[in-house]
Amino acid sequence: KTVNLGATATDKAGHRHFMSKEIAEQPDVLANALKYYTTDREGRHLLETGVDFSQFDRIVMVACGTASLACFVSKYWFEQIARIPVEIDIASEFRYREPPLNDRTLTLFVSQSGETADTLAALRYCTGQAGKVVSIVNAMESSIARESDLALPILAGPEIGVASTKAFTCQLAVLASLSLQAARQRGLLDEAGDRELTDQLRRVPGQVTEALAIAPQVQAVSAQLARYEDVLFLGRGALYPLALEGALKLKEISYIHAEGYASGELKHGPIALIDEEMPVVVLTPHDAMFDKTVSNMQEVMARGGKIVMVSDARGLKDGGDGVWQMIEMPKIDGPFAAIAYAVPIQQLAYFTAVEKGTDVDQPRNLAKSVTVE
Ligand code: G6P
Repeated sequence: KTVNLGATATDKAGHRHFMSKEIAEQPDVLANALKYYTTDREGRHLLETGVDFSQFDRIVMVACGTASLACFVSKYWFEQIARIPVEIDIASEFRYREPPLNDRTLTLFVSQSGETADTLAALRYCTGQAGKVVSIVNAMESSIARESDLALPILAGPEIGVASTKAFTCQLAVLASLSLQAARQRGLLDEAGDRELTDQLRRVPGQVTEALAIAPQVQAVSAQLARYEDVLFLGRGALYPLALEGALKLKEISYIHAEGYASGELKHGPIALIDEEMPVVVLTPHDAMFDKTVSNMQEVMARGGKIVMVSDARGLKDGGDGVWQMIEMPKIDGPFAAIAYAVPIQQLAYFTAVEKGTDVDQPRNLAKSVTVE
């Protein structure tokens, strides 16, 4: 079987790696995806395709790897903005647990390839039991897309690098749009609130462009990180699953051992590991939770830990005292900051891997699409 992806799909467009090309494409693909999902402010467009969030009591989201972390980020949006309970699970566990479902349950399967064996098996388990089986995929001609009641495209274009980057942020953009859709359908957004959140979402591609421009700072930090064997990532709220994704990306392509934690969980274990040999990357926009995260950072620094603080100008000014390295993000208001904060963590992994000379696009032992159990 041959697949013709066309010249643009397989060409690195002047980049050294597909991963770097795919990171750089994010403003364009995100703008496309957001245009597709938010053009109709009333959400009619999606209603016609059949997702009516007012029909469901809960959402169950199932995926693997990076796609499951996109689900985890979106749990914060669906629960906070649309007040609908969300359960997230990795497909390999979900499929064998036989979780109870009913027709008031919406199941959502997120997969770049649409061919991940565990995710497909989990989808098949839900068919006929859940109220609706919806997939969010990049490959619309895939098994997962075909077997769901409704397949929604993420419109990321072909992703070649094994480590998912633009597919992840496009998944987030689609899920964010759906959370707004859900809030509207459930009568939770007045006109002003709707406009504000919609505008915040529309600003994401511009924020991602700004985040790409800080690459030299991220590269300088990466040159340091490459010398360490263990790295911890911390975040709160929607930035907590992003900390998990930061750790996943770094270990996948640079082979540095990395773990992600919720900042507030630090004292329940990982603080025991803190010393000058384990840098701690803290993802913290200057938001409502900022002060709490700064106090977690101080706990780390009091034990000789080295902090890489990723924040905006105000955050770095108010909380940056004594940190080891700083990465300055643009100022981002509202719940969707996690999308642009994905960029520095992708680049941190990318530049660290380049610094170490590992195979960025084809990391050892990993496959782009895991079609066997
Ligand atoms: C593999 C890839 C990951 C991906 C995961 C899920 O592990 O290396 O990048 O996140 O599978 O893949 P899917 O195609 O279902 O999103």
